[in-house]
Amino acid sequence: MNRLAVLGQPVSHSRSPAMHNAALAAMGLAGEWRYEAIDVDPAGFEPLVAAMPAEGFRGANVTVPHKGAALAVADELSEVVREIGAANTITFEERGIRADNTDAPGLLAAIGGRPLRGRRALVLGAGGAGRAAVWALCREGARLEVWNRTPLRAEHLCAEVGGSTVEDPDIAGYDIVVNTTAVGLRGEDPFAELPLSPEALHAGQLVLDMVYGEEPTALLRAAGEAGAETVDGIEVLVQQGALSMRAWVGREPPLDPMRAAARG
Ligand code: ATR
Repeated sequence: MNRLAVLGQPVSHSRSPAMHNAALAAMGLAGEWRYEAIDVDPAGFEPLVAAMPAEGFRGANVTVPHKGAALAVADELSEVVREIGAANTITFEERGIRADNTDAPGLLAAIGGRPLRGRRALVLGAGGAGRAAVWALCREGARLEVWNRTPLRAEHLCAEVGGSTVEDPDIAGYDIVVNTTAVGLRGEDPFAELPLSPEALHAGQLVLDMVYGEEPTALLRAAGEAGAETVDGIEVLVQQGALSMRAWVGREPPLDPMRAAARG
C-alpha cells in the first residue's frame, strides 16, 4: 500500500482524506493508495516525517501549523517554495524529501481565467495562506495590497514576497478581495474582526474566502447578496489537492469526484 496523509493540528475537520480517497477511487487506485489524516504537534512533526518513508508513505500535505516547518525537513525546495517561504506538499523521493507549494497555483486555478493584470487586489492575512495568495496574485500582475491584524507581519510579507501594506483599506475600491485569515473558521464574524463591511461589497468584484465549512461563509453570503462573484475555500482546496496528487501519483486526478467528496 502506498500511503499519503495530511499532517496538521487540528486536522480532524480536514476534508482532504475524503477528497483524495475519492480521487484515488476515481482513478482506479484505491487498492494501491490510501490517504489518511495525522494529528501531530510542532515538536512531533520532524520525527514523524523522518519515520514516514519506512512506513510506506509516498507523500503528504502539510497544513497549519507546519507549513513553515516543512521547509526545514525537506532536502529539495521548489522555486515557488523558496519564494513563498511556505510548503503544503512533501514528496518522499529516492534522493530525499521534496517540498512544493500547490496553494499558490491552486488559488490561481480556482480563480480560473478571470483577468488579474492591473486589477486592484486586497489580501487579508499574512500567514502561510496569505503568502501564497500574495505570490500568486503578484505574479499575475495584480496591484496588490495586504492587510493584517498584526501590521508588522504584513510588512515582512510584502518585503519578501510583494505588494504593499494597507492599514485602513477602502473595500469598495478593490476588484478582488481575498480572505486568507482564520476568521470564520470557528464562526467568527468577518465584519467584526476584519476591515470589511457588507455595504462596501458590490457587483464587479471577485471575493474569495479560503475558509470553508458546511455552509457558505458569512463573507461569501454577503458578497453574493451584493452581486459580487465568489470563489469558496473548497474550490481552492480541490485545486491545490489535485496538483499535490499529480506530484505524488504522476496522473491528473478528476476534479468532480474531488469536489463532491470535499463538499461532503
Ligand atoms: P495560515 O498559515 O493558515 O495562514 P497562520 O499563519 O496561523 O495560518 O495565520 C493566520 C492568519 O489569520 C494571520 O494573518 C492572523 O493574523 P495575525 O498575524 O495578526 O495573528 C489571522 N487571524 C487569526 N485570527 C484573527 C482575528 N480574530 N482577526 C484578524 N485576523 C486573524
